Amino acid sequence: MRVVILAMALIGTLTGASPATAREFRLGLITPPTHLWTEAAIRFGEALEAATDGEHTLAVFPARQLGTEAQLLQLLQTGALDFAILTVSEITNRLPQFGAFYAPYLVADVGEAAALLRGGTAQRMLDALPQEIGVFGLGYCLAGMRQILARDALAVPADLGGRKIRITPFVPLRDFYQLLGAAPTPMPLASVYDALTNGQIDAIDMDLEAIWKVKYFESANTLMLSNHMMFPSVGVISGRTWLRLSEADRELVGRLMRTHLDRVMDEYVEQERQWETSIRDADVEIIEVNAASFGSVIAEWEAIWSRQAPILATLKAEAAANAGRSSPQ
Ligand code: BEZ
Repeated sequence: MRVVILAMALIGTLTGASPATAREFRLGLITPPTHLWTEAAIRFGEALEAATDGEHTLAVFPARQLGTEAQLLQLLQTGALDFAILTVSEITNRLPQFGAFYAPYLVADVGEAAALLRGGTAQRMLDALPQEIGVFGLGYCLAGMRQILARDALAVPADLGGRKIRITPFVPLRDFYQLLGAAPTPMPLASVYDALTNGQIDAIDMDLEAIWKVKYFESANTLMLSNHMMFPSVGVISGRTWLRLSEADRELVGRLMRTHLDRVMDEYVEQERQWETSIRDADVEIIEVNAASFGSVIAEWEAIWSRQAPILATLKAEAAANAGRSSPQ
């Protein structure tokens, strides 16, 4: 990939950044149309069209219409796709350093998660993306904190021992549930509803937005409010598209994408408690747990991941400095 990017950079240098030309951009993502990330993508497109008097347009393809995140990344690398909003879990599959974001209880809530993603360390981590995977990171977003929703009654996290829990397919989360003694079962978002409803899995690792909007709670007995991890995403542009844009267009798409993703972080801060209240009003037992409820799992996870992702120490220091403060924008 390094070679590809060097070749692309050379083309950019020889041709110079192109003068502004009308473009029909394409953006892909895996979340359903009602998800906050999808709404942000649509607002980004509308803002881009308005700012360029209709010269640039954006077609948004949600709900895996263009494929899995791994396939979206391939399309971005070839230039067949211009933009995507990717989970950081997909980035972590290629760049383990990003696994540091999934340190259990790195942050206490979405406000602290947003502050960390807006901070210097997280922003500097994006610098590796062009050289390593052929895309430029324009800004972060997130999907709330992770919770555990189970078909049966659970009292403590250890009750998941031996049970199949659906996870987003990436290694840091697999390690977390393996250390807990559960049977982590990687599964894409699109397959979760049926698998939970028909009992193929016993529980899911998920956020409150999806638990409420996709109605996963209807197939569950217990919501374990654990807030055990943040779940960031990153708005990216294909390296090939970037090199063909004028300086003015680079500034514009970067600023607009960042603005609309950043706004979603505030929406999570505002809305998470409402989703929690709505789920509390449904027929689901809510159990609240915290870091201590996971016993030695957190230290064991950190022992593995501080080797895979040495940036973890720096992120932890920044998170500790932010703790309890409202998120700086
Ligand atoms: C998930 O895999 O759980 C997920 C992916 C994207 C957005 C929210 C959740």
